[in-house]
Amino acid sequence: MEFVTYEQDGFVGIVTINRPKALNALNSDVLKEIEATFDAIDLDATRAVILTGAGEKSFVAGADIGEMSTLTKEEGEAFGKVGNDVFRKIETFPIPVIAAINGFALGGGCEISMSCDIRICSDNAVFGQPEVGLGITPGFGGTQRLARLVGAGKAKEMIYTAFNIKADEAYRIGLVNAVYPQAELMDAAKKMAAKIAKNAPIAVRASKKAINEGLDVDMDQAIVVEEKAFGSCFETEDQRAGMEAFLNKTKVDGFKNK
Ligand code: CAA
Repeated sequence: MEFVTYEQDGFVGIVTINRPKALNALNSDVLKEIEATFDAIDLDATRAVILTGAGEKSFVAGADIGEMSTLTKEEGEAFGKVGNDVFRKIETFPIPVIAAINGFALGGGCEISMSCDIRICSDNAVFGQPEVGLGITPGFGGTQRLARLVGAGKAKEMIYTAFNIKADEAYRIGLVNAVYPQAELMDAAKKMAAKIAKNAPIAVRASKKAINEGLDVDMDQAIVVEEKAFGSCFETEDQRAGMEAFLNKTKVDGFKNK
């Protein structure tokens, strides 16, 4: 891998986009490597993933403008599909993915963070969808996920004005869950990932799937999605151990993912 590194830290996988010369901008090669990295994650050994960018200036400064500058309509659409497919893989990845946003999250950078389950950022983070200023629409999910996360009015304002927002505003509108000093961001992400990893993995994964799938359907169907998820956890070793421990006033010493 040239542009993406992967580190396994206990049950936590850390994926770092590493193309500092272009502020970690996403060209086709970077997208391919992100996809290959997620494909290679051992789901038996990993219970949460952190996605971040290399350096202290940028998480991801967007899709690669140089690569996009000469695309035809057909090539543009195909490039959008490549990004969308990779981001959808992250969104539907069986285990939770936390975006640790360590600087610029513009265009495709804001979009990849929105395909993650949870976003936390450093105090120097900057978010935005600057695409219309480049003559294009957001193309890796921005027109869809931003409105779902912060509401249509705020998403439209951000996209139509192409105006960037700082970390405190991203927190205020609910785009990120928390803001940390840069030096504390990765520790905070690791702490959150460790808390997730301590819980019963089958239940965490079923919760992710149920939340995602339920948001795509009406409430009558959504509660059925939940019932299936809920039911699927019963008769697992971890369900039995978790409830037995509660009843015995003890704690489970490590869920087994069984
Ligand atoms: N694509 C390609 N190269 C990029 C890039 C991008 N999105 N963002 C930054 N770079 C490159 C710059 O061209 C520059 O390269 P050189 O040193 O070779 O000139 C290098 O990274 C450093 O960038 P700057 O000198 O511009 O750094 P800065 O501190 O002055 O500014 C910035 C930082 C405000 C993030 C600025 O780089 C910037 O505005 N970048 C573009 C942001 C953007 O518009 N992103 C959206 C892209 S479109 C998109 O993502 C479409 C989609 O939805 C799929």
